[in-house]
Amino acid sequence: MRIPINVEAFRALARRRLPRRVFDYVDGGAEDERGLRRNRAAFERIEFLPQRLVDVSRRDMSTKLLGQTIGAPLLIAPTGMNGLVWPNGDIALARAARRAGIPFVMSTASNVSLERLAGEAGGELWFQLYVLQRDLADSLVQRAARAGYRTLVATVDVTLNGKRERDMRNGFALPLRFTPRACLDALAHPRWTWALLRSGGVPTLANIDSDNGTGIEARAALLRRQMDASFAWDDLSRWRDRWPHRLIVKGILRPDDALRCIELGADGVIVSNHGARQLDDAVASLDILPEVKAACASAGALMLDSGIRRGSDVVKAVALGADAVLLGRATLYGLAAAGEAGALRVIEIIQDEIDRTLAMLGCASIADVRPHHLRTATVGYGPLSRGVTQCDQA
Ligand SMILES: Cc1cc2nc3c(=O)[nH]c(=O)nc-3n(C[C@H](O)[C@H](O)[C@H](O)COP(=O)(O)O)c2cc1C
Repeated sequence: MRIPINVEAFRALARRRLPRRVFDYVDGGAEDERGLRRNRAAFERIEFLPQRLVDVSRRDMSTKLLGQTIGAPLLIAPTGMNGLVWPNGDIALARAARRAGIPFVMSTASNVSLERLAGEAGGELWFQLYVLQRDLADSLVQRAARAGYRTLVATVDVTLNGKRERDMRNGFALPLRFTPRACLDALAHPRWTWALLRSGGVPTLANIDSDNGTGIEARAALLRRQMDASFAWDDLSRWRDRWPHRLIVKGILRPDDALRCIELGADGVIVSNHGARQLDDAVASLDILPEVKAACASAGALMLDSGIRRGSDVVKAVALGADAVLLGRATLYGLAAAGEAGALRVIEIIQDEIDRTLAMLGCASIADVRPHHLRTATVGYGPLSRGVTQCDQA
């Protein structure tokens, strides 16, 4: 087997190793998947303007995020059902993050409980909250605080589940049903099937199952990925009052929403279109980032995800104002290929690409990267260019 040298090679391995419906669950987007292509195009459009004759013999990509120093401007994004990708996938991802010195964000829809993850993985752990039912959310947040999580990520872009047509075609729904077609698919992937059986069968929603107060409806709602669609600003504000630690809002795509989060007391926002899994024609996170940056000035931490596949993508996002980015599918492909080692290898590849980009761009440190390192004409149209100019002056 060839040693994978980039994220795309890990994706190819993931496609081979996972049954089709699991690979498509990870890889797919909403409806016509224009958003998936737009997320990549946003990065690919931007060109670098390398600065020459700068001493880059020593380079540093460590970053300050929310008062803490992390190894690189990277986090692992919250993803549900990681146990389908690799046995105890949540723990494997969290350990890879810890070894790389970056935070791991645990999903509400994880397959190990948040207490078990804290006990077995260690490192900098954040907890992502889906509000399904307010009582359940209360209980999860209290448990997260007791277990030592100090950063809560409220995901606000899943008022209902995106229309993921690959999942619909494949009959992928939770709980996983083993139709004759699914059984054939499983038989064609014996390594995956054997690992699943050895680890106790189809993974469960451990946070919900381990919650005493959880009603059967909450479980069903999470399985359908059906959130409390009435959750609005007042509710977020109440969360801010109740949660005494860091609060981050994930899924923001508008400058005014970002500003409102910060004014409400959030410690930061994640500009994200959920990896193009929700609203197909939502703007690409990178395209709107300069405007969000301009709106928030430097108040609060500004993070971004959706479409990161290369170290150069990370550098572009940082140049346009992101303090750090989250990796979603990239580390999942690594996880599918080789568990913790695969996820860690993906992070290392991206770190190596960041390092090379810094050196060739003429930046000794990731903190030196600025919008002037990008050709803003390629960034595009009016409002975006204005945002870039404002960041540039800051
Ligand atoms: C398989 C999968 C499951 C996901 N589950 C969650 C989740 O439980 N909570 C959440 O906030 N975001 C979830 N996301 C979205 C990611 O956190 C992130 O926003 C997205 O993957 C970033 O895009 P990228 O995959 O192109 O890097 C999921 C994404 C994928 C691919």
